[in-house]
Amino acid sequence: MTSHPSQNHRILFIFPLALLSLFLLGTFRFLLDNLKNNQFQFLWQTSFSRHSKFLRVPINVSENEIIEESCNVFEGNWVWDNVTYPLYREETCPYLVKQVTCLRNGRPDSLFQNWRWQPHGCNLPRFNALKMLEMLRDKRLMFIGDSIQRGMFESMVCLVQSVIADGYHSIKRVPPRKIFRIEEFNASIEYYWAPFMVESISDHATNHTVMKRLVKLDSVEKHSKLWEGVDILVFESYVWWMHKPFINATYGSRENVREYNVTTAYRLALETWANWIESSVNPQKQKVFFATMSPTHLWNWEWKGGIDGNCFNETQPILELYWGTGSNLEIMSILKDVIGKLQVDVRLLNITQLSEYRKDGHTSVFGERRGKLLTREQRSEPKTYADCIHWCLPGVPDTWNELLYAIFLQDYRNH
Ligand SMILES: *[C@@H]1O[C@H](CO)[C@@H](O)[C@H](O)[C@H]1NC(C)=O
Ligand SMILES: *[C@@H]1O[C@H](CO)[C@@H](O)[C@H](O)[C@H]1NC(C)=O
Ligand SMILES: *[C@@H]1O[C@H](CO)[C@@H](O)[C@H](O)[C@H]1NC(C)=O
Ligand SMILES: *[C@@H]1O[C@H](CO)[C@@H](O)[C@H](O)[C@H]1NC(C)=O
Ligand SMILES: *[C@@H]1O[C@H](CO)[C@@H](O)[C@H](O)[C@H]1NC(C)=O
Ligand SMILES: *[C@@H]1O[C@H](CO)[C@@H](O)[C@H](O)[C@H]1NC(C)=O
Ligand SMILES: *[C@@H]1O[C@H](CO)[C@@H](O)[C@H](O)[C@H]1NC(C)=O
Ligand SMILES: *[C@@H]1O[C@H](CO)[C@@H](O)[C@H](O)[C@H]1NC(C)=O
Repeated sequence: MTSHPSQNHRILFIFPLALLSLFLLGTFRFLLDNLKNNQFQFLWQTSFSRHSKFLRVPINVSENEIIEESCNVFEGNWVWDNVTYPLYREETCPYLVKQVTCLRNGRPDSLFQNWRWQPHGCNLPRFNALKMLEMLRDKRLMFIGDSIQRGMFESMVCLVQSVIADGYHSIKRVPPRKIFRIEEFNASIEYYWAPFMVESISDHATNHTVMKRLVKLDSVEKHSKLWEGVDILVFESYVWWMHKPFINATYGSRENVREYNVTTAYRLALETWANWIESSVNPQKQKVFFATMSPTHLWNWEWKGGIDGNCFNETQPILELYWGTGSNLEIMSILKDVIGKLQVDVRLLNITQLSEYRKDGHTSVFGERRGKLLTREQRSEPKTYADCIHWCLPGVPDTWNELLYAIFLQDYRNH
């Protein structure tokens, strides 16, 4: 853990400029997605008539695929593995948004795709798409959060889609959701845009900007009515909060707009969310996960004593213990505290530490800003234009899903 004394004031409001790259996807993409919808409905209808390629089979979970309770899978290190990784290829998965296809966008090295997460106390099971789908049979899996969470959603879609017959899968957009439906398994993998979890003025699926933020700290219903009854919920919410150290919010009366410091606001929002979990989730039927902060690599003085660089040009993970200032410890302890008090079992996907090591995994200048790929001129100015928040795919979010898969297998065996 390193820190640079004169830079400490930056700790809380880490993202002002960097965040510009995230938002405002624009109308063009929206139209494009609508076109895809029509195609989707056609496919959906035809796929009903060709039931069922896959027979329902019990999953064979072998002993070495089960993680012992005593193993903390979130503690470990990255090991080079260009034999079994990546788990899929950019060009074989049609569902990646342009923002994350770093190789296609011109990234010269693919080294970031060849690292395997190795927990200290055990081995992770190899991801098996058929087993995953069998565990999702008759279920809905929903990822809820911001564009980081959309990466996790796309990763999961790409991890499973290769085993579904070509032409019989597609993503349908039902804003603020995206739905990947797998008819053969009567299953769906969904994404729900809710960057603050609670309601806010940024809830429109495509027309939103982090510059104007107003959150309703005691109100989640507009979202939660679409979360009701979902079998597996995976939440995440972080970077949008961190734009500035203060945020305008209402709590109680709608007219009463007040500035809150971000940590206070985050706690109130999380408590609102927690109340919904307690009153609406049936722990016998539903599983709930919460992914901790996805780290950023905005200042290379933190890991190599650079001067004013960022994640640009990084091609290797950090191999010693490292924690950057972008991952706010106060937010972490609020998560621990609020989730720890719940009656309903919400499991933390504590992906922060393992992702902290991956300064090489970001889209950098091989992504988008405001819905457009960077131009050659912009690429030559990484200080301004590198995106050190989002992740390339295949890449780090695949590991988050491998961890989820490992937990599912464990549950499946124990149920
Ligand atoms: C299940 O796995 C075990 C060990 O790998 C193997 O011996 C057995 O044949 C498998 N059973 C089925 C039904 O695939
Ligand atoms: C995999 O990595 C090893 C060690 O760096 C290297 O010697 C080998 O050429 C690599 N294989 C491929 C297919 O890239
Ligand atoms: C499909 O799954 C839903 C639950 O997600 C269930 O209510 C429904 O009965 C299932 N349909 C079939 C044909 O099994
Ligand atoms: C986006 O939202 C803003 C404010 O809500 C509105 O003024 C603007 O017209 C919207 N833009 C589009 C393209 O819908
Ligand atoms: C909150 O709103 C007030 C009044 O519109 C504005 O002056 C202030 O800058 C806003 N604060 C933040 C953190 O956006
Ligand atoms: C945020 O506000 C709360 C309550 O007013 C206060 O206890 C806390 O110290 C503040 N935190 C920061 C970082 O300013
Ligand atoms: C990026 O890496 C390349 C190759 O290692 C090097 O030539 C170049 O100077 C680096 N650029 C920056 C801005 O660090
Ligand atoms: C997540 O992991 C980090 C590092 O291993 C640890 O410091 C933190 O307390 C963990 N968070 C929670 C909520 O358990």
